[in-house]
This record gives sequence, C-alpha cells and structure tokens, in this order.
Amino acid sequence: MTNSSPATRNIPGRFLQKTCTVVVVFCGLHLSVTMLYYFNTFEIIKNSVFAANSQQAKNINVSTVYPTTMLQTVKESTAPFKRESVETKTKELEQCPETSPLLVGPLRIEFSEPVDLEEVKKQNPALQGGGRFTPKDCKALQKVAVIIPFRQREEHLKYWLYYLHPILQRQQLDYGVYVVHQNGDETFNRAKLLNVGYAEALKEYDYDCFVFSDVDLIPMDDRNIYKCFGQPRHLSVSMDKFGFSLPYTQFFGGVSSLSKEQYVKINGFPNNYWGWGGEDDDIYNRIVSKGMGISRPDGIIGKCRMIRHNRDVKNEPNPQRFDRIARTRETMNSDGINSLSYKVVEIKKNTLFTEIIVDIGSPGR
Ligand code: BGC
Repeated sequence: MTNSSPATRNIPGRFLQKTCTVVVVFCGLHLSVTMLYYFNTFEIIKNSVFAANSQQAKNINVSTVYPTTMLQTVKESTAPFKRESVETKTKELEQCPETSPLLVGPLRIEFSEPVDLEEVKKQNPALQGGGRFTPKDCKALQKVAVIIPFRQREEHLKYWLYYLHPILQRQQLDYGVYVVHQNGDETFNRAKLLNVGYAEALKEYDYDCFVFSDVDLIPMDDRNIYKCFGQPRHLSVSMDKFGFSLPYTQFFGGVSSLSKEQYVKINGFPNNYWGWGGEDDDIYNRIVSKGMGISRPDGIIGKCRMIRHNRDVKNEPNPQRFDRIARTRETMNSDGINSLSYKVVEIKKNTLFTEIIVDIGSPGR
C-alpha cells in the first residue's frame, strides 16, 4: 500500500481539469471567430444587394456614386454586354453589289389568274408597312421611290404588286411604293400626279431616285433594274403593245427613272397636260433641252407586258398636246415642281403600298 499525501494523490485529476479548460476555451474562441466571419460575410451580401437595387430603381450614374475601384468592377461585369450592343448598333452593312446575285433573268408574265392581295402579303414577309423594303444583308446602292399615277385600276394594281414586289426585292433596292390616286372625277392628269408622288415621297424618306411607272406595265426580265443611272432612264423600251420595239426614238412613256438631281434640273414634270398623251414627250423635251440624254436597257432586258384595257373614262386624248409639246422650252421653267399645288385628301398605309389620295384641281385652275 502506497502512503501518498492528498495533494499528490489529486495530480491526475487536476491535469484532466486543466486540459478540459483549455479545450473549452479553444472551442469558444473557434466558435466566436467562425461567428464573426459569418456575420461579416452576411453584411457584405446585404450591402451589395442594396447597392444593386438602389441603382436599378433610381438609374443612378455609376461613375458619380462608386469609388473608382468599384466602378471598374461594375464596368468589367457589364463590359461584354455593352461591347456587343455597341457593335450591333454601329456595324455597318457592306454595300450591295453592283449586280444583285438574286436576279433570275427572263420572267413569265401573264394576267389570266386573279390576284389575291392577302396571298401577295404572305409571299412578301420582308415588306415593312407602306410598301417599304430595305435589304437586310447589304446596304442598298439607291433609295428608290416608285410612283404610280392611279385611278380606278384596282385589278391592274393587284397584278403590279404581285409581280413587282419580288422583282424589286431581288434587285436589292431600298424602295417604297407610292400610289398617287387622283380624287374625284375630273380629267386625269398623269404628270401632275407624278409630281405629287415625288413631293410626298420626299416628305417620308430621303429618296435619291424616282421611278415613274404606269400601273399596267410589268417588266419581263428582272435585270431591267428599277433604279437611276447617269442619264434619265427609259425602262419600258420593248412593250408587247408596240411589237416589242420603240414606237419612235423619242418615246419616254410607260416606265422611266430620274435621280433627284435630274428631276430638279428639268423642274420636274408639266402640270397642265389634262387627258391622255403628250406629257411624256414634254418630259423628253425637258431632258434634252437641259443637255441630258436618255439611257435605256437593251430590247431583250427591256421587254415588258401591258395589261390590255379599254380607254379610261375622263382620260380622252388631249387635243392641246401637240401645241404644248411644241412649247416645252418656253413653259418648262415656270411650269413644274416649282409651281405645283395640290391638296392631300388622305394618306393610307397599306402593307403593300402607300396610297396618297389627292385633289389636283381641274383644267384651267
Ligand atoms: C403620245 C404619248 C404616248 C405615245 C405612245 C404619243 O403620240 O403623245 O403620250 O406615250 O404616243 O402611245
């Protein structure tokens, strides 16, 4: 039996107690450090959520609110998005080629089946309202307003829209179709309606080229481009009505195109040819008297069909036309776009065209 003092007898117990205390203190310390870290992190998250929300709500200019370092973080996090949107905005389309690769050449044109305009709309999904179209893959070389003088030829207009929209799109033109509808039942005045079309189209868009087309003429080849050239262009050079040839060398009727510059140079078209005939000869005279010539496609590419019809009521041959044509040089500087007056009755936006209903007065007014 060992004879030991009480103090000596308690040594293992005290050692155990000390160890326990150290362990408890260590655990306590560990717990507090963990909690401290936890609360700090929570506070950071709370702050950043608030910053984002307040920015959203008030649309604050970040550069005035955040210190530089934080601003850099904001910039970096939104940078890829920003860069992409700027690129999309400023990405310049390449110019369309001089000759569109979409052209197919000769076309079969016939007028036996009636046209359903709802179908035409479905077949031309890329059209914007008002008969506007812009190529989406390249930048068009010209902005073309196609002007059609019109009255009571709904069926012809349907054929025109059916055939021309796909052609003009294949020609990669930035174009708009304007149907200028003479209001009332006064004698028809083709050239004055064309002047109205020019003036009204320019109010809508910065067109640089104007194609003037009768409603009943359809090109038989999409290589006959409805755009402007160095000289005023006669496009309907080979009409079935005239046995696919020109009726006379100076003929400028049917479909023609003039750049804005060429049109202004001749003071536009005459306003005082009421009834059928002569106005196109007057336009020809204006062009020649200003030192310009006529450009034309060849007789194959320039083939076109006319929709047969009876002479319109209130568009009888104008008996004054011979006299007027003889005096073009005297009258052209005072009669033209500079003396044009008319009243727009209504402008209707159809998917396939813009209709301008206009009051152009009557002969002698
Ligand atoms: C008229 C023109 C017409 C041409 C062809 C001429 O006598 O003056 O306006 O375009 O005949 O029909």
